[in-house]
Amino acid sequence: MYYRDTWAEIDLDVIRSNLTALKKHTNKPFFAVLKANAYGHGDYWVAKTAMECGAALVAVAHLDEALALRRQGFYDEILLLGHIRECDIPLAAAHRITLTVISLDWAKKAAALHQDLSKLHFHLKVDTGMNRIGMKTSEELKEAIALIEQAHGKIDGIFTHYACADCEDLSHAKKQLARFNQILDELNRDFKWIHCENSAAALCFEDDRSNASRLGIAMLGVSPIKTEVELKPALSLYSRLTCVKKVCKGETVGYGATYTAPQDCYVGTMAIGYADGLIRANQGRHVVINGIEAELIGRICMDQCMILLPYEMEVGTKVEIISSQMSVERMAEELHTIPYEIYCLLSDRIPRVILSNHQQVAIINNRLHEFY
Ligand SMILES: Cc1ncc(COP(=O)(O)O)c(C=O)c1O
Repeated sequence: MYYRDTWAEIDLDVIRSNLTALKKHTNKPFFAVLKANAYGHGDYWVAKTAMECGAALVAVAHLDEALALRRQGFYDEILLLGHIRECDIPLAAAHRITLTVISLDWAKKAAALHQDLSKLHFHLKVDTGMNRIGMKTSEELKEAIALIEQAHGKIDGIFTHYACADCEDLSHAKKQLARFNQILDELNRDFKWIHCENSAAALCFEDDRSNASRLGIAMLGVSPIKTEVELKPALSLYSRLTCVKKVCKGETVGYGATYTAPQDCYVGTMAIGYADGLIRANQGRHVVINGIEAELIGRICMDQCMILLPYEMEVGTKVEIISSQMSVERMAEELHTIPYEIYCLLSDRIPRVILSNHQQVAIINNRLHEFY
């Protein structure tokens, strides 16, 4: 349950249709990237939906995210894309989490600390130009492979990550791919999984050598690049008017009195604020009420914000903050950011209402530790 009229709806049917379109386009297996609670969409339900749609595995950033999925009853393969402390490796093994070898230094420390890695599967991360994590040379990779295999760990995959796959100029990404292919040649061994493509690359790149793509934002319906693939955002964010009042010309609204009514008007309040992820920079942006765009006036408060209403409206009227009428792409552009950040900022104060087959199948209210 939830006890405030602010909620996000996540439509699993939309994720299914996005994945159908993406699979048709890429024509290769995919991993579902579910970092940061599936970019705020609810990791368990997105994971379950992705597996139903044929995902080979799901990928997260940190061990906590992997364990959170296990705790919610997700038992399929999870690949940890980021760093795990070497001392936490036994915990990962106990929960059958596939790990990424992020550096030779990490491999050395892992092998020194754990003589028996036989319960673990690994993917090797290759740094081909992102300069974040990964090994840069085949010599480092060979040494890391030897260390992991001496400890009986199984090397399942090898991957790299593009820095500029969403840019118009793809020369940087092409250089990365060429470097990756060169490393594959130098290693001259078979891997079950070779994967490079994030959403942007999966949508715009030809890469016959990799045999899986890693889909995050596109699966959720947002494309980082212009594409003809039909994608629809799965998440909408709504609230309702909790208070409606007449404000006279010359009166001010909110902290700091930053908005002065130029004429008599109606102001609505809704119970969502920066603690929910509706950051203060939203002041002056618009939401949609009864099909009409209405300005967010005055400073956004921690739990509430105010709207200049086009006319007197009823308390309880639904407000669309992110919807088909107010896209997350437009919101991101107006806030000088990217949809990823908008989604990830939606805090766990916002209950997620999960829809499937046009019905509500679950409500996730993390504040109350409720997942049903
Ligand atoms: C290593 C890695 N692969 C894949 C992805 C998925 O990216 P996208 O959401 O653009 O598909 C991410 C996300 O940041 C990532 O870090």
